[in-house]
Amino acid sequence: MIRCDKNYREADYYNKKFSRPYKHSVYDRVYKVILSYLNPSVDTKVVELGCGCGFLARKILSQGVGFYCGVDFSQVAIQKAKEQCKKFLGDHHYLVNCRVEEAFIYQLDSTDFVSTEVLEHLRDDVKVMSMIRKGTRVHISVPSFLSDDHVRYFKSEDSVVNRYKKVIRFDKITRVKMSGRNYIFPFSGVRI
Ligand SMILES: C[S@@+](CC[C@H](N)C(=O)[O-])C[C@H]1O[C@@H](n2cnc3c(N)ncnc32)[C@H](O)[C@@H]1O
Repeated sequence: MIRCDKNYREADYYNKKFSRPYKHSVYDRVYKVILSYLNPSVDTKVVELGCGCGFLARKILSQGVGFYCGVDFSQVAIQKAKEQCKKFLGDHHYLVNCRVEEAFIYQLDSTDFVSTEVLEHLRDDVKVMSMIRKGTRVHISVPSFLSDDHVRYFKSEDSVVNRYKKVIRFDKITRVKMSGRNYIFPFSGVRI
């Protein structure tokens, strides 16, 4: 794993980023893998950390999960997520403008945590993972490349496993090719 602490960004950075037209996500193939890991049903109670503009939320909600709570510290992203998901938002479905470090998130009655392309933006990613209740399933993705808002990135599946193995028992990990030699590593496991 390679660190780059100077790339840490606060919500205002993401508010600006999401204020630009942002209609499609480049992560569609990552979402497909995450959805196959999650296998959503009416009994699935999902918390999504850093839901952004709700691209994955929309796919999860369209499958009729019994509970969904997406959180993001960018109010612009949450507003866009609400617009994007409005067709599928029902009882027990929430989009909340808050930090992933908020304690209440981890007290929600959830079966599964989802988070795509967020942990690499956090200073204390392992601490955040450790806040998830033991026994909860997790479905996450992290990148192999540096970007101006990535605090860290991962050269291989092994480096992903090494970083999170104290808090997650890995069941599956794969790679999705992006541009050039860039990959995203989606993985699935259980909080231990
Ligand atoms: C690269 S985007 C990914 C968004 C979304 N998961 C997706 O797949 O499109 C990273 C997201 O993490 C959010 N984020 C970063 N740090 C956060 C924090 N401490 N608390 C809440 N959200 C955070 C940003 O606002 C942004 O929406």
